[in-house]
Amino acid sequence: MSTGVLEDARRERWRERCGPGISMRKELTEASAMETRPQEGRKGPPPRDVPPAVGLLLPMALMNALLYLCLDRLFISPRRSAEDPTRCPHGHFRMGPMSNCSPWLSCEQLRTEVRQMKRVGEGAVKRVFLSEWKERKVALSRLTRLEVRDDFLHGLRMLKSLQSEHVVTLLGYCEDDNSILTEYHPLGSLSSLEATLNLSKYRSTNTWQHRLQLALGYVAIIDFLHRSPLGTLVMCDSSDLPKTLSQYLLTANFSIVLNDLDALPLVNRSTGALVKCGHRELRGDFVAPEQLWPYGEDVPFHDDLMPAYDEKIDIWKIPDVSSFLLGHVEGSDMVRFHLFDIHKACKSQTPAERPTAQDVLDTYQKVLNLLRDTTTPQTREML
Ligand SMILES: Nc1ncnc2c1ncn2[C@@H]1O[C@H](COP(=O)(O)OP(=O)(O)O)[C@@H](O)[C@H]1O
Ligand SMILES: [Mg+2]
Repeated sequence: MSTGVLEDARRERWRERCGPGISMRKELTEASAMETRPQEGRKGPPPRDVPPAVGLLLPMALMNALLYLCLDRLFISPRRSAEDPTRCPHGHFRMGPMSNCSPWLSCEQLRTEVRQMKRVGEGAVKRVFLSEWKERKVALSRLTRLEVRDDFLHGLRMLKSLQSEHVVTLLGYCEDDNSILTEYHPLGSLSSLEATLNLSKYRSTNTWQHRLQLALGYVAIIDFLHRSPLGTLVMCDSSDLPKTLSQYLLTANFSIVLNDLDALPLVNRSTGALVKCGHRELRGDFVAPEQLWPYGEDVPFHDDLMPAYDEKIDIWKIPDVSSFLLGHVEGSDMVRFHLFDIHKACKSQTPAERPTAQDVLDTYQKVLNLLRDTTTPQTREML
């Protein structure tokens, strides 16, 4: 199913990018066909001859413009990781030093080739074990209880469809045994970022540059979800900061991948379908204001009366997550200062007034470039 969906989405994107060009090409063909057709029944003076050189040059110039537009649109989209030729085809994986792509492991292989070792994490849906497969460390996730099997299976479907640089690598799964095998990341989730960066081994990495790069990676994941091959997906498993951090893993080369995809509902603008994150009342200012019960303390919460919302709830949360990622090292306040305006916009009470994830990502990138190019220890003080 997912390859078909991906293919359609890819075609759709090509049509979006080059659509006007293609219809322009069609109009051009029709126009030139009309020109070559005999002008039946036409009265008045005979048409003036167009010099043959002009007749040749004009379509060539138009074709060039068309090509330029399409190629330009292709090359300014750095996000198209799903089309990255170095990635494995759907249903296959490669990790670490593996040179070839392997098919996802089957139930049989998971049962016989994977050795479960110690537990490294647990959430409401999955219990995660460091395990071994062919002398490699891997992560085996097992369903914690049958009541949440639908979430587990939704997460698995998303994991299969969204394989990219932004998502943990899937190695295999077995629906009959409720198990999923993924690449193991020894640095664990973002919850332990501070502890990791305090280890003497990683202390040299604890700089504003690396930390801003992490924030950039986080926003890139939100942008990827909002413009995913499946449509606009909302990261619902994020009702407070610790919970949000636990859904992302820190890789050994200090990038971030999304690990928990169990709650990614789809916003469908054309049908007007919005989303709700769970069926319980949410509180606190980490969640977006539109996620809070709007009818006051006197009216008891009722899920059916709770209005739905869209992906802008993820934008509201960006400043808090980024601020955690930036931490408190030399230079992080300078970065915060430069991100002040975009973060203020993220906190607009009106969802539609918040920027898109892509806008935020662009601003982060500009700030990173600006500070990287201009900051020496002396000038940093002035900024
Ligand atoms: N591939 C992995 N490598 C290392 N640790 C992992 C991996 N997958 C999950 N974990 C750990 O297990 C925790 C729970 O995983 P998660 O997928 O969020 O479960 P749940 O769906 O129950 O919330 C994570 O926060 C992380 O600490
Ligand atoms: Mg989780």
